[in-house]
Amino acid sequence: MKAIRVYEYGSPEVLTLEDIADPVAGAGEVLIDVASAGVNPIDWKILSGAMQAFIPLPLPFTPGVEVAGTVIAVGQGVSAFKSGDEVFGFINIIGGYATKAVAPAAKLALKPRSLSVLQAGAVPAAALTAWQALTEHAGVQPRQKVLIHAAAGGVGSMAVQIAKYLGAEVYATASAHNHAYLKDLGADYTIDYATQAFDELVSGIDVVLDLVGGETQTRSFKVLKKNGVLVSPVSLPSMSLANDFGVTPINFATRSDGQQLALIAELFEKGRLRVDIEAYPLSDAKAAIAKSMGRRLRGRLVLDTAR
Ligand SMILES: NC(=O)c1ccc[n+]([C@@H]2O[C@H](COP(=O)([O-])OP(=O)(O)OC[C@H]3O[C@@H](n4cnc5c(N)ncnc54)[C@H](OP(=O)(O)O)[C@@H]3O)[C@@H](O)[C@H]2O)c1
Repeated sequence: MKAIRVYEYGSPEVLTLEDIADPVAGAGEVLIDVASAGVNPIDWKILSGAMQAFIPLPLPFTPGVEVAGTVIAVGQGVSAFKSGDEVFGFINIIGGYATKAVAPAAKLALKPRSLSVLQAGAVPAAALTAWQALTEHAGVQPRQKVLIHAAAGGVGSMAVQIAKYLGAEVYATASAHNHAYLKDLGADYTIDYATQAFDELVSGIDVVLDLVGGETQTRSFKVLKKNGVLVSPVSLPSMSLANDFGVTPINFATRSDGQQLALIAELFEKGRLRVDIEAYPLSDAKAAIAKSMGRRLRGRLVLDTAR
């Protein structure tokens, strides 16, 4: 099979495309003929070497946390999927940028029929992150005010739609050229973070979903109601500021969960969610990662293994 390989940590320039042996599905695992692999910030954070202390990986490795494709073999004990099924999933921390990948069956769901297989590869990690942030961690309720930072990006674009599905009033920060897109996704109010100070414009917010970190996260305390929630998958919000403002700070890592992904798939089938993608050939993974590192995008980036 073809796979993108990393022999040394560094910039996207270290990525190589190679022919390597096919993986084999072990007990409880599924072998997937990969059609598309999502590109996420975690990929270049790992590639840079900055995460070696938390995520030690033997070199060489194949980046990529999520795929969509067709099941071509199942390991012992797998009954939920069979050869020929179209599936998608947040498969692991690595292994996705390839024409074949193995994944635990418990991390997969059937691909929604309403999504192309190219679109489906861009969904699992971002949608699970947004879903877990808003439902499990923040417990968003109808009519609550939710502020989403980086709303036009991968997680943000899912979060805007999921927050609307949960009945919230959605405030979204993004560059001005993405505001019409966010309104189309359901955002009630848009804020241009480059020219407008969100913390001077909004207040009384129940939940902030911070997808930026740093100063954006620090300034977010001020806009929250007492007993509000500041949830971030980027970094742990300051405990002392949380005490000062009387809000709950939450940092979390996304959990891969095939059952939860099946619920998300239903929302796509019902037309409650959509995903907008920019696709690159697998051989152009360097360009896709460089685009992700630029942090200016709309929706999701995906690698197309057929090109
Ligand atoms: N811990 C976990 O398990 C976990 C899981 C998923 C994601 N994450 C993290 O969550 C973050 C978001 O992930 P993602 O995939 O959504 O990233 P992404 O798609 O790369 O985000 C890109 C977006 O960020 C926006 N942006 C950049 N700077 C901004 C600012 N100062 N204010 C508002 N928006 C800004 C851009 O907006 P414009 O283009 O409109 O300028 C762009 O749309 C990343 O740091 C990622 O590593 C963590």
